[in-house]
Amino acid sequence: MILITGATGNVGRLVVERLADEGVPVRALSRRPKQAQWPAGVEAVAADLADVASVRAALDGVEAVFLFAAQEAGAELVAAFADAGVRHVVLLSSNGIDDGAGIQDGPIATHHAEYERLLRASGMAWTFLRPDTFMTNIQPWSYQTKYGDEIRGAYAEAAAPVIHPADIAEAAVAALTSGGHANKIYRLTGPELLTHADQARIIGEVLGRPVRYVEIDVEQQREQMAAFVPAPILADIFKFWARSLEHPHAVNQDVETVTGQKARDFRSWVEEHADEF
Ligand SMILES: NC(=O)c1ccc[n+]([C@@H]2O[C@H](COP(=O)([O-])OP(=O)(O)OC[C@H]3O[C@@H](n4cnc5c(N)ncnc54)[C@H](OP(=O)(O)O)[C@@H]3O)[C@@H](O)[C@H]2O)c1
Repeated sequence: MILITGATGNVGRLVVERLADEGVPVRALSRRPKQAQWPAGVEAVAADLADVASVRAALDGVEAVFLFAAQEAGAELVAAFADAGVRHVVLLSSNGIDDGAGIQDGPIATHHAEYERLLRASGMAWTFLRPDTFMTNIQPWSYQTKYGDEIRGAYAEAAAPVIHPADIAEAAVAALTSGGHANKIYRLTGPELLTHADQARIIGEVLGRPVRYVEIDVEQQREQMAAFVPAPILADIFKFWARSLEHPHAVNQDVETVTGQKARDFRSWVEEHADEF
């Protein structure tokens, strides 16, 4: 039995679907499993990663876990997996981690690096998936493209090797179901480095009308996003964008190494989501 946490999320949902398609026994964990639709054969359980007792109750017979790094838990959660006899944890980590740094820069990398430290020390096998920026992050742009041809945001030239969530999910499935991935780290990227301006242009090409990214002041965007994103996380995101102007993350081949398939490009993700835009 494989336990999928974050099972309603951008990646976890696809991990559940793909494992179910392959006929692998799956238990999907969510705080509100009744509000989601699950593929046939999937056992959905209600649990909160912040309430480790509720997670323990979902661990019977579980051999491997796909782990969403919930803010609230950490040490107790990892100990619960080890106690229950889990043999392998595949962690949805972050490409923001700097292996050479004694102290990670910012809350996102710090938080994921702490999960990695706990898992390395746990005695269980681990695989760390460190994806770069998800293509899904720009879904909120649809509120602008639906009503006009401009996307207004900060850092037009901020660049990242954006990744399709399906590639992360397929890497997770490979790590969970085939040998050779124990104690490995994969920095998962998409196939090309794209700026915000490039992404806006490609959305326009798919929609068949010009769409352009109009750069606004950082403080203006901070005000707009403050209602949805906690201030320290927002500061981390802006720092990442600013740094990428000079030192963007590099594209690599880790998706193909793990899944055997080339990473999907941004254009194909936009084509799949064209109705939303
Ligand atoms: N977005 C990016 O560019 C990016 C890049 C690299 C790494 N990451 C990392 O990838 C992970 C997923 O990010 P995302 O933004 O894509 O998230 P997401 O899809 O919004 O998924 C969040 C999931 O976590 C579950 N969840 C949250 N808190 C929970 C809790 N206390 N107990 C149980 N389940 C809980 C939610 O499930 P329910 O609501 O159903 O309980 C939901 O399925 C994060 O760790 C993020 O830091 C993201």
